[in-house]
Amino acid sequence: MIRFSTIADLRKHLSTDRASQKIALVPTMGALHEGHVALIQKARQENDSVVSSIFVNPVQFNNPDDLARYPRTLEDDCQKLEAAGCDIVFAPAVEEIYPESPIMKLSFGDLETVMEGAFRPGHFNGVGIVVAKLFNLVQPDRAYFGQKDLQQVAVIRRLIRDLSFPIELVVCPTVREADGLALSSRNRNLTAEEREQAPAIYAALTMAHELLLEGQSPAQARASVTGYFSSRPGFRLEYVETVNAETLQPVVEVLAPGQTAICIAAYLGQTRLIDNLVF
Ligand code: PAF
Repeated sequence: MIRFSTIADLRKHLSTDRASQKIALVPTMGALHEGHVALIQKARQENDSVVSSIFVNPVQFNNPDDLARYPRTLEDDCQKLEAAGCDIVFAPAVEEIYPESPIMKLSFGDLETVMEGAFRPGHFNGVGIVVAKLFNLVQPDRAYFGQKDLQQVAVIRRLIRDLSFPIELVVCPTVREADGLALSSRNRNLTAEEREQAPAIYAALTMAHELLLEGQSPAQARASVTGYFSSRPGFRLEYVETVNAETLQPVVEVLAPGQTAICIAAYLGQTRLIDNLVF
């Protein structure tokens, strides 16, 4: 595995690979877990060359404490990437990606007026800018993202279409612990006690799913989930929404199979967790 920290070196190396090879990109912010490993492994199976970026992107954080708390584990991450079959790691410094703060703003319309976009203003502008930069630098044939960040996937799908990137978006299923907790880099910030409580998020999703399948409305499912978290003092629920899985707009009834998503965001202590179920 080769490691680059400058754009010039990465570009020079990839310019020789590009003509003959299918290149995959797996963008990450590091603190890698089995969910990232699954993305790398799938990319490995489907492409000739796998590039992964590790960059904690300051522009997508609207909360400075969240940025400061974000785990940084570069050496450990590189070992995991190599073991999973990654060929190239791009791990630039902030100044390499942003010699000056970007003045451009990306807006994703209705896709970002709900859920993460509503609770984290500017987040998707930052995601869009860094992902577009990575797409330009690497020029991959395929890019791999996890379904856990459902809204991010919808935004990137639109970024690819609106800017005509010749890239296939590959969305991989959420990887979970045995107790249902979705893998996330932020799980490392949970205390032992919080880690025991954390599967409540997946439990709430499955409860809402069952209620909807029984014929309850999204509003009734939301009331039940809100009640469920109000009896769990460690949690502060930010939202629970039943939405169209592609447009992310709230729905008033369940759609055709595969088109409805239930999405939850909640703080557990200081740690903000998100999860979703598409059904
Ligand atoms: O999902 C993430 O880790 C980040 O949002 C991404 C896509 C790497 C952009 O910084």
